[in-house]
Amino acid sequence: MENIIEVKNLTKKFNGFTAVDNISFSVGKGEVFAFLGPNGAGKTTTIKILTTLLHPTSGELHINGYNPLHEHNKVRQSFGIVFQDPSLDDELTAFENLEFHGVLYGLKEKKARRDRIEEMLKFVELWDRKDELVKKFSGGMKRRLEIARGLIHLPEILFLDEPTLGLDPQTRNHIWTYIEKLNKERQLTVFLTTHYMEEAEKISHRIAIMDHGKIVAMGTAEDLKKQTGKDSLEDAFLKLTGDGLRDENASAAEGMRQHRAMWRR
Ligand SMILES: Nc1ncnc2c1ncn2[C@@H]1O[C@H](COP(=O)(O)OP(=O)(O)O)[C@@H](O)[C@H]1O
Ligand SMILES: [Mg+2]
Repeated sequence: MENIIEVKNLTKKFNGFTAVDNISFSVGKGEVFAFLGPNGAGKTTTIKILTTLLHPTSGELHINGYNPLHEHNKVRQSFGIVFQDPSLDDELTAFENLEFHGVLYGLKEKKARRDRIEEMLKFVELWDRKDELVKKFSGGMKRRLEIARGLIHLPEILFLDEPTLGLDPQTRNHIWTYIEKLNKERQLTVFLTTHYMEEAEKISHRIAIMDHGKIVAMGTAEDLKKQTGKDSLEDAFLKLTGDGLRDENASAAEGMRQHRAMWRR
């Protein structure tokens, strides 16, 4: 299988704190690849580097054959992204959000752009809500709209950072169904992070488990279970990452550390 994502010895430091610690992995074209890890493991930081939003401290990477450090635009055309935090314009309608994005991605021809928007909104079952303001949407509708938006320019890769966080089981199920369909029908490569083990196991071809900035294990769900001698992915995960609490305070503590470092300068 040809690799569409290649990462070698990637490291990211924030003021001396190592958020991503010398990780290497690759993702094949058409593969669904999941990053699992406790809060603060470095998953979002990795996605931000892969998608040109952050500069790595060191390491080599290739996305769709391009180097994100030097070929920003080519890399950006290659992927769609659904961020961990919502990033839609609440004051625009669903259609307007996609139209804005389509123009941004160079879909200049109006008819073609609108056809594409229609196709994507139908795909995520929001076509009949296209003229409503996004601020009236539920969390699940916003997520679906973000997926449609991420696909508007027909990318090769879709990055999803915790796409189902905080959604009800029905909506989560719908979202994974869309993703699976895209992967099977269009050979879309999917790189995702999630906290939901069963979802990761159901949808991913391979899984990397990340902890404290490092990849501590990588393989199919079966590989990970075998490697740890556990029956479930959740037990394998706990064995690999320990059962200590990692609350959201990881980020808060880091924020404070940064603050102090700033005042010391
Ligand atoms: N811009 C930043 N400045 C300083 N520290 C950061 C920044 N972004 C993330 N971190 C820290 O890096 C670590 C990894 O964060 P993140 O990649 O968001 O983890 P995850 O997505 O796995 O929960 C955390 O300790 C976080 O506080
Ligand atoms: Mg994150």
